[in-house]
Amino acid sequence: MVSGAGRDLYGEKLETQFGVPMISIVIAEAALETVPKEIVDHPSVRKIADRRGKEPGQTLLDISYHYTAMKDLRDWDKRGRPDITFITLLNLLESPLNLEDRLRIYVHTRNDLIITIDSRTKLPRNYTRFQGLIEQLFEIGKIPPHGKPLMTLWKGTLKDVVAQVKPSKTFFLTEKGKKTKSEDFGSKIVKEDSPLIVIGGFQRGEFSKQDLGMADEKVSLYKDPLDTWIVASMVTHDIEKALGII
Ligand SMILES: C[S@@+](CC[C@H](N)C(=O)[O-])C[C@H]1O[C@@H](n2cnc3c(N)ncnc32)[C@H](O)[C@@H]1O
Repeated sequence: MVSGAGRDLYGEKLETQFGVPMISIVIAEAALETVPKEIVDHPSVRKIADRRGKEPGQTLLDISYHYTAMKDLRDWDKRGRPDITFITLLNLLESPLNLEDRLRIYVHTRNDLIITIDSRTKLPRNYTRFQGLIEQLFEIGKIPPHGKPLMTLWKGTLKDVVAQVKPSKTFFLTEKGKKTKSEDFGSKIVKEDSPLIVIGGFQRGEFSKQDLGMADEKVSLYKDPLDTWIVASMVTHDIEKALGII
């Protein structure tokens, strides 16, 4: 089950709380999807799913397991990396910035699904358990299945996330952006009312032109490409310092 686009899952919490700016971070175009129909019947894909007692289409695409089957998929080298979202979410959710309730976290997937995550969510530390959790989320649309959801899945584009957050400014992090010291970026972010920071959740290449077109600023924190979770940690760390949290 996937709920409707544009639904406000954080409600008033997106707004400035007691005059203190909330910071939104989205892991965008994340390489997080279930096995696509083109390869559900590939013998290697079926074998792995059988071992887990699931249908291939109910399992997450993972290049570590599905490499042979994935080679003919479009953009194959930008797909099948759920671990990127996993490690980045662990970094964001356990950051002092989030523990101080100053952060709103979204995941936007390459297939235009959006995951909203309650800031009190404690993710499993084990990848296999995370994989099972996300597969359940893709199947039923919320976690836990009953009661107040901690994670919710809905159909929507990155533009829908922007429409929901209504950011004072949208910052895309990319190695092709304007070279900026990360501490200067932190100081700049905390001067905004409701900044939105976009970090790519994929392993290769650049954001789509359409998504990049929503950037008010494109920021590079280092001359070479870095892993998503490193960028997320740098950014939260420098915002925490700028806010005096650490
Ligand atoms: C592994 S990178 C994406 C792939 C990378 N563009 C490449 O071709 O190797 C993941 C994300 O981290 C962020 N990122 C990586 N390096 C960066 C840098 N030097 N400055 C700012 N953001 C960066 C971007 O948001 C990027 O989409």
